[in-house]
Amino acid sequence: MTKILFVVSECAPLIKTGGLADVAGALPGALSVFGDEVRTLLPGYRMVMGKLSKTKVVQKFDDLFGGPASVLACMVAGLDLLILDAPHLYDRDGGIYVDATGHDWPDNAERFAALSYVAAMIAADGVAGWQPDIVHGHDWQAGLTPEYMQATGTDVPFVFTVHNIAFHGNVGADRLVALGLDPSRFSADHFEFWGQISALKSGLMGAAKITTVSQTYAHELLTPEFGMGMDGVLRHRNPDLVGIVNGIDEDVWNPATDPNVTPYKTTKGKAANKKALQKVFGLGQSDGPLCVLVSRLSEQKGIDLLIAALPELLHRGGQLALLGSGDPLLEVALLEAAAQNENVSVKIGYDEALSHLMMAGGDAILVPSRFEPCGLTQLYGLRYGTLPLVALTGGLADTVINASPVALSSGVATGLQFHPITAAALGQSFVRLSKLYSDPKTWATMQRNAMKQQVGWDASAAKYHALYASLSSVAA
Ligand code: ADP
Ligand code: GLC
Repeated sequence: MTKILFVVSECAPLIKTGGLADVAGALPGALSVFGDEVRTLLPGYRMVMGKLSKTKVVQKFDDLFGGPASVLACMVAGLDLLILDAPHLYDRDGGIYVDATGHDWPDNAERFAALSYVAAMIAADGVAGWQPDIVHGHDWQAGLTPEYMQATGTDVPFVFTVHNIAFHGNVGADRLVALGLDPSRFSADHFEFWGQISALKSGLMGAAKITTVSQTYAHELLTPEFGMGMDGVLRHRNPDLVGIVNGIDEDVWNPATDPNVTPYKTTKGKAANKKALQKVFGLGQSDGPLCVLVSRLSEQKGIDLLIAALPELLHRGGQLALLGSGDPLLEVALLEAAAQNENVSVKIGYDEALSHLMMAGGDAILVPSRFEPCGLTQLYGLRYGTLPLVALTGGLADTVINASPVALSSGVATGLQFHPITAAALGQSFVRLSKLYSDPKTWATMQRNAMKQQVGWDASAAKYHALYASLSSVAA
């Protein structure tokens, strides 16, 4: 049995802004099947603290980056949590990364340095008699962990997972002292990046192994096009970089038992959900496919491409139901598109329950991302028989079988992929989608294939398990 400390800034079902939380919430359970024991260190944000019960203080700090703090042990939804309760850092209104006006918290560097520092202390000294064999940090928020670990002299290996290379957690070198970093290590070999302190680079340089969330993204990361300035660092670390595709929680995302939908086991059961979804979104009946999209609204997600390509869908009787929030300009553009077309309906906001109904009621799920390390909504779509129409990139390339002539004739297609990632190519894929949708036999075959595809965690958890075992001397 390997003991692993997850260090992560969000974790479902407690706190979620994106797929990172889904992964952090589901992977520990999948690993337990292999005998691995995960404890998860998570910031005690205000909205997290309100959801805890039966907590036990297991560690105290008089002054953790400017205030007193403690670590609370508790169980939530089967997760073994270590909550970093530091009110001066996490007890506030607004989002977990941004304030109420959408700007990054000015002390984000300290907020997540504190998380990383406490992880390092637990690695070195244990907590209430429990000491990890491996520390596994996720994204830049956990990136400084190996810096603090090396200062303690511990030799516990650090694994770092890149969920999204776009976020670096960089701050000016003037924060060296405030962050308690060793100035003699402010160099290109460690955490210096173009004159700044980079938490992401620290994680990449300090990890025994780096993982990312799909094999294609692991290759893409090495290129200037996708590496976001870190491609050189990643080429340097390439021998220790491995792509392990995400799975989904098959209990939470199960059309046969989902409490948010009219449950179904075969695609016939989708009709009632489509009706319900059209009603919720104020859409009428239509001859074409009902496309759904659930996403953060950001440059990454290709929402502008969708808006430009929309006429190709609408001309063919297609519909769009979209749920998302984020970039205010994209929100306005989407609401405008909805105002102009009776077959387009947009809900701005975050709604977990509605996202389930969208998976059940949609005919196709759109993911037109410019880049997508893994992507989870196409996996939910597969499980619910809602065919993914996705850009050919990252995890979208690895998890969808494009309806090419060969895949169609051999009966294995599960969705559609478009490339290059442009509005024109997306428009063309709407033409293909409409054609397939108007051929019920082919469509039904694709739906069946989709619902049969393995999208759970088993295979990928086995890979993490093997990775931990290769690093941990005590592992079986
Ligand atoms: P990313 O992590 O880049 O945002 P993923 O596809 O990996 O993309 O994960 C996004 C997760 O967040 C999915 O579980 C998706 O259903 C959820 N999600 C995103 N936006 C919303 C929203 N507005 N309402 C409900 N769930 C959302
Ligand atoms: C990131 C990526 C997304 C991935 C998720 C979970 O937010 O943008 O593609 O699925 O992390 O790994």
